[in-house]
Amino acid sequence: MNHAGPVRAPVIAANWKMNVAPDEARTYLRRFLELVPPKVDRTILFFPPALSVEAALEATRGREDIGIGVQNLYWEPSGAFTGEISAPMARRAGAGFALVGHSERRHVFGESDDDVRRKLAAALEADLIPVLCVGETLDERRRGRAEEVIVTQLRRAVEGLSADVLSRVLIAYEPVWAIGTGENATPADAAAAHAVLRLALSERLGRRAEQPILYGGSVKPDNAGALLAADDVDGLLVGGASLDPERFAAIVTA
Ligand code: PGA
Repeated sequence: MNHAGPVRAPVIAANWKMNVAPDEARTYLRRFLELVPPKVDRTILFFPPALSVEAALEATRGREDIGIGVQNLYWEPSGAFTGEISAPMARRAGAGFALVGHSERRHVFGESDDDVRRKLAAALEADLIPVLCVGETLDERRRGRAEEVIVTQLRRAVEGLSADVLSRVLIAYEPVWAIGTGENATPADAAAAHAVLRLALSERLGRRAEQPILYGGSVKPDNAGALLAADDVDGLLVGGASLDPERFAAIVTA
C-alpha cells in the first residue's frame, strides 16, 4: 500500500525512530511477514529512518495491508536546506505516509506549532497521508491542562485546511510522559483524550470525524489489546516495542 489508498482501522504503526538501518530493515521485515499474514481489515504502517524507506518498500511489496512512511520532512519542496528531505521527494521514493509533529521533533528539535502546520500542509500537498502527533507533557497534565494543550496543538496544525483535506489526516495522541518511559496512559485516559480530539475535529469538519485516532506511548504486547479496545482508540503508534519483529507482531495480532 505505497500510495494514499484506503486506510482501514485499526491502524497499527511502528515508529522506528533513529534505529534500523537498511540491511536490518530487510531482516526484520522478512521475519515480520512470516509472523503476520496479510489481512484486509486493518492497516500496518512502518516509519523507518528515511535511509531505510526503500528497503522497507521492497521488502513489503505486494502487501496491501502495509504502508511505509517517513518520520519527518521539511515544508519546502526542494532547495538549499542541507540535511532535510521534502514531502514530494518522500512521495517519489514511494512513501505513502508521514509522521508530523512527533513529540521528539517538538521537544528535542524545537519544532513549533507553526512548523508543524507547514509540514502537515506540505505532506498533504504531496499526497502523503500525514499522522499528526499531539500530546501533553507531565507538567501540563498535572496542572489540568492536558485537554487544552492537545486541542490547541490540533487546531493550530490544521489551520487553513479545507474539510475535505482535513478528513485525510490521521491523528496520534501521544502523551509526552508516556513515550519511552514504560508508563502508558490507561485505556480510560486514552479514551478521554481521543474523545476530546474527535470532538474538536468534528467541530472543524461540520460532521462527525471518522479518521482513525491512534494512541502512542509505551505500547507493549501486554497492554495493546486493552488500549485498542478503549472507546475512540482506532490504532496504536509504537516506538520501543516495534523494534523487535516478534514483539511488534504480537501487538499487531493483539
Ligand atoms: P514508545 O514510543 O512506544 O517507545 O513509548 C512511542 C512513540 O514515540 O511514537
